Amino acid sequence: MHLEHVKELEKKYLLGAYARYEVLVDRGTGAYLIDKANKRYLDLLAGIGVNSLGYNHPKVKQVLRKQIKKPLHLSNLLYHEYQGRLAEKLTQVSGLDRVFFSNSGTESIEGCLKFARAWAKKQSAENPKFRFLTLDGGFHGRTYGALSATGQKSYRDPFEPVVPGFDYVQFNDVEDLERKFTDDVCGVMFETIQGEGGIRPVSEAFYKRARLLTLQKGALLIIDEIQCGLGRTGRWYAFHKFAPAENKEMLPDLVASAKPLGLGIPLGAVLLKQHVADAFQIGYHGTTFGGGPLACRASLAYFKILEEENLLARVREVGDYFKSKLETLRDLPVVKDVRGDGLMLAVELQVSGKEIVKQLIQQGYILNCTHETVLRLLPPFIITEKQIDKFVRALRPVLEAQNVSNESNVKGTH
Ligand SMILES: Cc1ncc(COP(=O)(O)O)c(C=O)c1O
Repeated sequence: MHLEHVKELEKKYLLGAYARYEVLVDRGTGAYLIDKANKRYLDLLAGIGVNSLGYNHPKVKQVLRKQIKKPLHLSNLLYHEYQGRLAEKLTQVSGLDRVFFSNSGTESIEGCLKFARAWAKKQSAENPKFRFLTLDGGFHGRTYGALSATGQKSYRDPFEPVVPGFDYVQFNDVEDLERKFTDDVCGVMFETIQGEGGIRPVSEAFYKRARLLTLQKGALLIIDEIQCGLGRTGRWYAFHKFAPAENKEMLPDLVASAKPLGLGIPLGAVLLKQHVADAFQIGYHGTTFGGGPLACRASLAYFKILEEENLLARVREVGDYFKSKLETLRDLPVVKDVRGDGLMLAVELQVSGKEIVKQLIQQGYILNCTHETVLRLLPPFIITEKQIDKFVRALRPVLEAQNVSNESNVKGTH
């Protein structure tokens, strides 16, 4: 089937929810995707942070082959041997105590919101705290709770009224957080590094103030690690930069995880501290698909491979290398900023990034543009220095060709 035929069919029958790139993928290997015409693309987006081990990984194939002979799905009314083992692993690496499995990022956020409200009700059944503070520019997902938590008006607007009880704090603004932290706040939620919002890292000062305020005022700290977690920054979770797993008090009370967790098989997780788990009762929450044997087994393989191949250290090393190469582009007038941590990197431009992305795709690189002007890079952890060099060599002339003054009316991200 050719791209034109696929496009025709989709145009006729699909809702049209996505602006797709002009690439019909056939297969993948390592850090490359290969289209139907055998053209290779270096994948610097990894399925928006899902395919952290790249494609066609031999150890992944081996483990999936084994499980394919067994039930792919089991209801949560039955035991299988992988949920408990995976939950143990997640608590070990995160420092939190308990796990609930979901199917996606947005459902992990819904779990966090529900568990926080249940916790608040346990503290005071007559007058429970119910409000959530989240951050401007944040993105938490598309279901109603997660959408309501999302601090970007454009996502919420078409669906107003959203769920009541959400307010948005200015990014990294400790004073604004303090001002809005009224006695009815039950949770503060944010991404350690905003992904969709343009790769914007929360400051250590903001994280620590949010942690201490929630402790003092009797509210929960909820961290969205869906995009920045599970190795992407070279730590198990990005918040470990501010609160190592041993520093129990400074760890969040709830964590939302997903993206690479199931190695491409949909899987999400909510991690909870014990005191939040204590407010939960059987029947409060559940799911048909969450935590199935295929996804959990794949996820166990993810952790095993990361450890066996020492990939956290590799992410830090190759991430620093990639960032240093991107920094060399700062001499170009079109480059406004280079930022990020590990393999979650961005080049912010003075102009719209859409055409630039199109040109780079034609040259065999997959990346994306978020927030109009931010080139977002979330490559697989197996990317090499040589591949990075090749990309940066291709990026420079494309950026050099941009006319900055003509586009001075493009809205900036922040
Ligand atoms: C930080 C963050 N939270 C939540 C979500 C929603 O996850 P999902 O698309 O799996 O529902 C995303 C997805 O991009 C995300 O990046």
